[in-house]
Amino acid sequence: MINPLRGMKDLTFDESQRFVHIVTTATNIAKKYGYGYIETPILEETALFKRSVGESSDIVGKEMYQFEDKGGNDVCMRPEGTAGVVRAFIHGKLDRQPVKQKFYYYGPMFRYERPQKGRLREFHQFGCESFGEGSVYEDFTIIIMISQIFSELGIGFDLQINSLGCVECMPPYKQNLVGFLRETQEELCEDCNRRIDTNPIRVLDCKNATCQSLLADSPKLIHNLCISCDSDFIKLTGLLDKAGIKYQIDTNLVRGLDYYNKTAFEFVSNEIGSQSAIAGGGRYDKLVEFLDGKPTPAVGFAIGIERIMELVKMPEVTREGIYLGAMTEEAIEALFPVATAKRKETKVTLEYASKGFKSHMKGADKVNARYCVLIGEKELENGTVWVKDLETKEETTISIEAF
Ligand code: HAM
Repeated sequence: MINPLRGMKDLTFDESQRFVHIVTTATNIAKKYGYGYIETPILEETALFKRSVGESSDIVGKEMYQFEDKGGNDVCMRPEGTAGVVRAFIHGKLDRQPVKQKFYYYGPMFRYERPQKGRLREFHQFGCESFGEGSVYEDFTIIIMISQIFSELGIGFDLQINSLGCVECMPPYKQNLVGFLRETQEELCEDCNRRIDTNPIRVLDCKNATCQSLLADSPKLIHNLCISCDSDFIKLTGLLDKAGIKYQIDTNLVRGLDYYNKTAFEFVSNEIGSQSAIAGGGRYDKLVEFLDGKPTPAVGFAIGIERIMELVKMPEVTREGIYLGAMTEEAIEALFPVATAKRKETKVTLEYASKGFKSHMKGADKVNARYCVLIGEKELENGTVWVKDLETKEETTISIEAF
């Protein structure tokens, strides 16, 4: 027997239904906020992720499914969705159109991480990317939209937010932070020591307890923002307060991808163990430009579908559609035109084997049909069908044409 690869799984039965319910719910909400569907390739040039997610990030440094294809190209299975959408946005010259553009997507992402509960090597995201809107009202709208998706799915969450500043306030802060880190260097873990030179901001979200306690006294970007970033952050928190959305400001929230500026956020759940982030996102105003497009502000998010799968409250299952069965061999063929006609309106299960009454009733129950419709010798002769409503228990015999 051939098993799936480590960290990859099949979604069947209950899980696949949950998957469809999550995607349908999120899609319906995203459409109401003006998002249109975008599909981009799973395989992209490795350079795309190096330049966007960042060479010094763990995703690019350690976790990419990267290989040379038969044509000698350095390619990579996408570890996340934003980079591909931005590439498509630029490639399609959408950055040159005056209208704002909003896209939603869902699909598989690949990260060669150490698998554990909630952490897969192939997982699925539902994401949204909004291009051309620099106003912090859009950041707020996106947070409202995610809250609405989780609330419709019956999922509770905590929201953590931070500001990562901009090209004006981030560089002096970084310098300041590096100064602080150098002073405590000897006590910091190996990873943090490496990051002081490669990506000092990432030191802030080190999970090591000693590092975290040392970082308690580190300078905070939130206290060193430029006027524009500061007023946007104050506006955002004010809007969240007015909307009654609870949040915590987490000054160590830096996200694992390098493209963010200003607003960064994560939705977490305390019901799913250590891999608690169920959605993440933020603003990335420089990425389009950085990937050779026209300067375009942008903001987006992605939800981890597997992480919320067991949290979703599924709608109650109700009886649906028709079960069609024949009690004689000759009657089976008479059911095909009925099935074809009815399938234009509802779900139809057609049993190909002629069976007794009890066996058909069991079959109708198994597929959770609302109506059990049977045809036997007598019905075939009279051109009728026997119908039982399995909810009201009413029974009738009517002509095939009228059915
Ligand atoms: P991310 O935080 O790396 O952001 O991923 C978003 C979500 O994907 C996470 O919150 C988590 O629920 C899920 N996730 C990540 N890694 C795994 C894994 N190994 N196994 C299972 N689930 C996982 C991004 O990917 C950004 N592209 C989000 C974004 C869109 N920012 C702006 N636009």
